[in-house]
Amino acid sequence: MNNKTKNSIIVITVLVLIFCVYNFFIYTSKESEHPIELSSEALLGQKLWQKNNCWSCHQIYGLGGYLGPDLTNVYSAPNKGSNYIKAFLNSGVKSMPKFDFSEEEKNALVAFLQQIDSTGYYPNTEADIKPYGWVEIKYKNEK
Ligand code: HEC
Repeated sequence: MNNKTKNSIIVITVLVLIFCVYNFFIYTSKESEHPIELSSEALLGQKLWQKNNCWSCHQIYGLGGYLGPDLTNVYSAPNKGSNYIKAFLNSGVKSMPKFDFSEEEKNALVAFLQQIDSTGYYPNTEADIKPYGWVEIKYKNEK
């Protein structure tokens, strides 16, 4: 084996090692895990959200239909919140149908939107793009 081949083997071995170590850290790091578990009430709300196609007109974290506004932070927005959400469900508006939900179902939808709201901000103006390509997002439920 000449020197050139030896050097190539060393370089490739080092690169493979770096790749393995890098992947080990990426896949075992717990840093970006912020799981939320929906309460049973919020789970019912999520079912209603899906069953009644709220997402065909509304977005959560920017994903969904675009006829109505994004509802990620509607629960904590100034002058909005629980009663405001219920008012829309009760009466509808020109471009949003009126829903005949029971009080329990309305509370469930509010609980769902409240739990969504507790996870973060949309749009997120405080995302921090690191020089190594990682984006650090500010979560509300971070300890
Ligand atoms: C056909 C489309 C459509 C569907 C389906 C729909 N909405 Fe809406 N919704 C709208 C539109 C459009 C508005 C904005 C009305 C306005 O402000 O004049 C709105 C407004 C709202 C608001 C007030 C948002 C704010 O920030 O002012 C809430 C809360 C809301 N909808 C909840 C829901 C929920 C929950 C569902 C499902 C049960 C739903 N919507 C289904 C179209 C829809």
